[in-house]
Amino acid sequence: MKLVSPNFSDLFKDNIEIKQFPDGDSYVRIPDIEKCKNLEVTVMHRLYPDQNNSIFNLFQMLHTLNKVNSKITLFCPYLPYARQDKLFKTGEVLSSELLCTLIAGFNVEKLITIDCHFLKKEGLFTYGGLKIENISANKLLIDRVGKELEIISPDMGANYLVSDFKGKSMEKIRGNYNDGDMAYREIQSLKMNFDVKGKNVLILDDMISTGGTMIKAVENVRKGGAKNVYCAATHGFFLKDSLIKLQSICDDIFTTNSIPNPVSKVNIADLIKL
Ligand code: R5P
Repeated sequence: MKLVSPNFSDLFKDNIEIKQFPDGDSYVRIPDIEKCKNLEVTVMHRLYPDQNNSIFNLFQMLHTLNKVNSKITLFCPYLPYARQDKLFKTGEVLSSELLCTLIAGFNVEKLITIDCHFLKKEGLFTYGGLKIENISANKLLIDRVGKELEIISPDMGANYLVSDFKGKSMEKIRGNYNDGDMAYREIQSLKMNFDVKGKNVLILDDMISTGGTMIKAVENVRKGGAKNVYCAATHGFFLKDSLIKLQSICDDIFTTNSIPNPVSKVNIADLIKL
């Protein structure tokens, strides 16, 4: 039995209701709940955008499925809070672990996700007590360009996306957290120690958020004399005007539709067999 959230209705036929009460509380209903009794159920639900509400909606679904004893597999293509997997200052929250532990608490048998930031390779893992199957979209993204390419990741964390394709990685160093309300660590340096002169280059990352990393990576390969420059990532947030900026400095840019956006051209439905 597949249960599909309305936030996945662009790809699959949805059969879960999500509404809001006038005060903003969430209302969730699984009309087919009787059919889920003691059965294997796959819940397909995006956890971004509006991650905090989407996470709570997920808990509402899981709580209801627990009441009828379903055996739950979860498909959430992008896992929010995955970048909060390290502690920098005393008293910080390991939010990546917190989220996984909360999901595991609903007896979820497995979470299937795509290019999970803290796992950094494909396969089966247990994190925060949650079983996770991490799938990579790297091959689909690379195949889309259809040219001989120098494939580059903008930092070592994303090296696993390119290493099977003779890819190279830049080295990124971030500074400390900024002052003020925004929790953000500026990029101090992004170094490229290899030659790209005259080459067609694809810069591949797990995500493009503010675009800061990708913009600096494009500047590096342009300075290095690259011919055509393509940018791709599994998850595309494109905060503020980062998409417009990137489009003005590269030859093409695209992501998967794990998070729908104007350049989400690679279909994650081609990646998973559910
Ligand atoms: C970081 O380690 C990630 O792999 C991405 O490089 C990063 O999150 C992208 O963020 P932004 O677009 O804000 O530079």
